Order: sequence, then C-alpha cells, then structure tokens
Amino acid sequence: MKRRLTDRALFFREFFRTFHTTGALLPSGRRLAAALCRYVREPSTGACAILEVGPGTGAVTGRIISDMGPHDRLDLVELNETFVHRLQERFQEDPMFRPAAERSRVLHCPVEELPNDRRYHRIVSGLPLNNFAASEVERILAVLTGLLAPDGVLSFFEYIAVRRARALVSGPTERARLRGIGRAMHAVLGPHEIRRDAVLRNVPPAWVHHVRVSNA
Ligand SMILES: C[S@@+](CC[C@H](N)C(=O)[O-])C[C@H]1O[C@@H](n2cnc3c(N)ncnc32)[C@H](O)[C@@H]1O
Repeated sequence: MKRRLTDRALFFREFFRTFHTTGALLPSGRRLAAALCRYVREPSTGACAILEVGPGTGAVTGRIISDMGPHDRLDLVELNETFVHRLQERFQEDPMFRPAAERSRVLHCPVEELPNDRRYHRIVSGLPLNNFAASEVERILAVLTGLLAPDGVLSFFEYIAVRRARALVSGPTERARLRGIGRAMHAVLGPHEIRRDAVLRNVPPAWVHHVRVSNA
C-alpha cells in the first residue's frame, strides 16, 4: 500500500514535470495491465523475449513478471531517469520484481534508439502516442513493429475517444496533428490488428490494441 502511494506520488510529480512524455496523471490500473499482458500469458513453445516500452514506475511490469514464463527474458526501455531509478530499485527490493531480476534489464534511452538487431516475441507499450507529433507516432510504430520477431505480438493502449474529444476543443493545427496520428495508427492497425480489448473499468477507459506483423 505504502509502495503504491509512493509510486502514485512520483508519477503525479513526473506528469507535471514532463507532461509530454509521461502522458498520464497516474500509473495504469490492474485491468489495463492485465489486458496489455494478454499475449504474455499465452503459452509458447520456447522462451520468449519480451520488451516493455515506457514502464514508468512499473505498474504493468509487475503484471508482465507474474505472467511471463520461467525462462522468458524481459527488457524495459524507459526515457525518464527518475523512473529508471525507481525500476532499478524495485528489481533490487520489491518481492514482486526480484524473482525476474536476473532475467531483466532496464535500458535508459528512447525506444527509437534501441539497437535494431534485437527481436522480441512480445512488446508491451505504455507510450502516450496521442501526445506526440504524427511523424513521431509513425516512426515509433515502425520501430516497434520492426523490433517484433516473426509472429511476435505488439500490444499498446490508447484512451477511448480521446482524440475525438481533444479535436472538439482544439484549433486547426492541433486537429491536423490528431488526424495525422489517427492515420498513422490506422496504417498499422488496419492490416495487422488481431484483437482489440475495451477496458471500460479504467480511468479513463482504454482500448488495448494487439498487432501481429509477419516480419520474416
Ligand atoms: C503513460 S506513461 C505509462 C507508464 C506505465 N507503463 C503505466 O502504465 O503506468 C508513459 C511512459 O513512457 C515513457 N516514454 C515516453 N516516451 C518514451 C520513449 N520515446 N521511449 C521510452 N519511453 C518513453 C515515459 O517516460 C513514461 O514512463
């Protein structure tokens, strides 16, 4: 309980300090974390390489760790140094994180700068895509789908109707940005989305998109 309060306070502070990249007031809730991990839980024939993008204080990481197999490996890539320190601390001290410490790495860089010779069977992303420029979203989605192993699955979320709601109260430049993001997402989701889950009991309610791209 004390840990959750500390993490919420930290997240809240980072939201005001780095709104653009933090993108949410509070860490994701349990139901959203569970939906994001749907394909981490799926049985696989061998060990899985898992990548979490934008783990923040680790709200979804805890669920990944409880769902991953005993031989699976987890990389976490996080831009914000404060969150990186918090995650490192949790891998050392938190009983929920410690069992996976030997099989996990916290990488401190933007996901766009990960070496592109790595391939992951599962990618779980918490990036606030709707805060970014359309060209950034296009680039990030290309990076994420490019990091997938053949038959790998990328899972990411967006808050339901947030683009439409923002567009209603925005000027033309912002509306053009939001339309561009919609097009960038559609270019990936149109041909490759395999499942979409609505998480209505989240604040705010969210869509979780699951994408499979055949990167042979
Ligand atoms: C909406 S928060 C999600 C945090 C956590 N996954 C959760 O659900 O509570 C977005 C996270 O993405 C990180 N982030 C933003 N842009 C990033 C980038 N280009 N590369 C890596 N991490 C990034 C932020 O620092 C923040 O931790």
